[in-house]
Amino acid sequence: MKYLPRALVGLALLFATLFTITSPAADAPIPATSETLAQHDTRLQWWREARFGLFIHWGVYSVPAGQWQGKPIWGGGEWIMNCGQIPVADYQQLPAQFNPVKFNADDWVKAARDAGMKYIVITAKHHDGFAMYPSKASKYNLMDWSQYRGPDPLAALKAACKKHGLLFGIYYSPLEFRISPNGFGRKEDAEAIANGFRYSSLGPKPYASNADVVKLAQAQIKELAEAYQPDIFWFDGTWDQMGNWTEDDARQAERAIRTAAPNCVINNRLGTGHADFNTIEGKLPAHPPAGVWEYCWNLGVFWGYNPRNYELKNVNTPEHYIETLVKTASLGGNYLLNVGPDPTGKFHPLAVDYLTKIGQWTRANGECIYGTSGNPLPEKPDWGYLTCRPGKVYLIVKDWPAEGKPLPLPALKSQPVRAYFLTDAEKIPLKVIKQENAWFVMPTGNKPEQPFTVITLETGDLQAAAN
Ligand code: GLC
Repeated sequence: MKYLPRALVGLALLFATLFTITSPAADAPIPATSETLAQHDTRLQWWREARFGLFIHWGVYSVPAGQWQGKPIWGGGEWIMNCGQIPVADYQQLPAQFNPVKFNADDWVKAARDAGMKYIVITAKHHDGFAMYPSKASKYNLMDWSQYRGPDPLAALKAACKKHGLLFGIYYSPLEFRISPNGFGRKEDAEAIANGFRYSSLGPKPYASNADVVKLAQAQIKELAEAYQPDIFWFDGTWDQMGNWTEDDARQAERAIRTAAPNCVINNRLGTGHADFNTIEGKLPAHPPAGVWEYCWNLGVFWGYNPRNYELKNVNTPEHYIETLVKTASLGGNYLLNVGPDPTGKFHPLAVDYLTKIGQWTRANGECIYGTSGNPLPEKPDWGYLTCRPGKVYLIVKDWPAEGKPLPLPALKSQPVRAYFLTDAEKIPLKVIKQENAWFVMPTGNKPEQPFTVITLETGDLQAAAN
């Protein structure tokens, strides 16, 4: 990799580490309500079955698209204000250039649906402070501070989700780059400024104090919950041991959400100390993490729009994203894949192409993903991945055996009832043989063209289990 991606990967890893260290565990996922475990399970059922969602990072940072004053900015996506040390007064000019006339909520949601995604999560406000909806709590919003006169994107996306059968989620960060480099005024901020960090010391400061920032966040969280009643509230930006955003603030926000949208599913980054699910970012663990969780990462290296994302050195192959979905499902989690739309309101053509290719696979093979549990065995097979549901184990084959060689089956209590290709409508049985106490499937025909061919193994009422 060239210097830029390496720098970005470094940044990404730093964030990932930060979150791994500071994210409270959600082993005890009961929210601070009178909800029982059974009620909690029921409320989360749709989300656990959904397995695959679309993350959308969209804001005025898509206008500079990773460049400031003609120079590429290290880390220049939605963090460009911070990474480029852009003065507040300059950054606040961006909304005037933001006019996404090509935005069409239906197109986005259909692209997600066709990729096999079951929900979306859209950034309502990122750390730059700009609200992408008509906020009553702050004039610094899409309708009051830009030329855009189209529909409210959040309302339009929620309606499109309803129409196409997806669930709707809102991302919100209480953090504010406009008050300090790291969001809330911290000791480190003073040091950073003393060491030459410029932007928060230049230009008008929109807030007198951190308390104002918290007040704004509370007001916006409440108005978002009431106006859109989202299915998911996805928090971010509270990692700094929350600075002035305390656990009490988080609980107050949670109460506002539960009052307006009682079934809403909330991630652990809100900072209440309990959560419906944990966010894992950047790197999938080798073994299933505890609790209910979701893995999120980008298509490419940037969250917010940056055309460099789509240069082939920065983006992986469609197979990689299919494998990430498979791997995540085999570990028992959900996968939230991010796309950052451009300032006109369109997904990059390469993103559309990738989503289409992922969709070709999920349409044919979705049975081994949605509503399944992860690998029932302690280890994954060398040739690929396993998922399961009662009576069935799915063998998701990445490395096909050499011609004429059998595929070693995971350790089973007894002989499987039958095995067949998941996509074979006639379920023509594949030969299952036993050699030295182990079971093998003999694949027939040529090596499949498609990556990640799935064999369904019917185990009757038996579950796969280590011998
Ligand atoms: C990290 C990034 C942030 C992004 C988030 C998504 O927090 O800093 O920009 O929105 O990851 O998980």
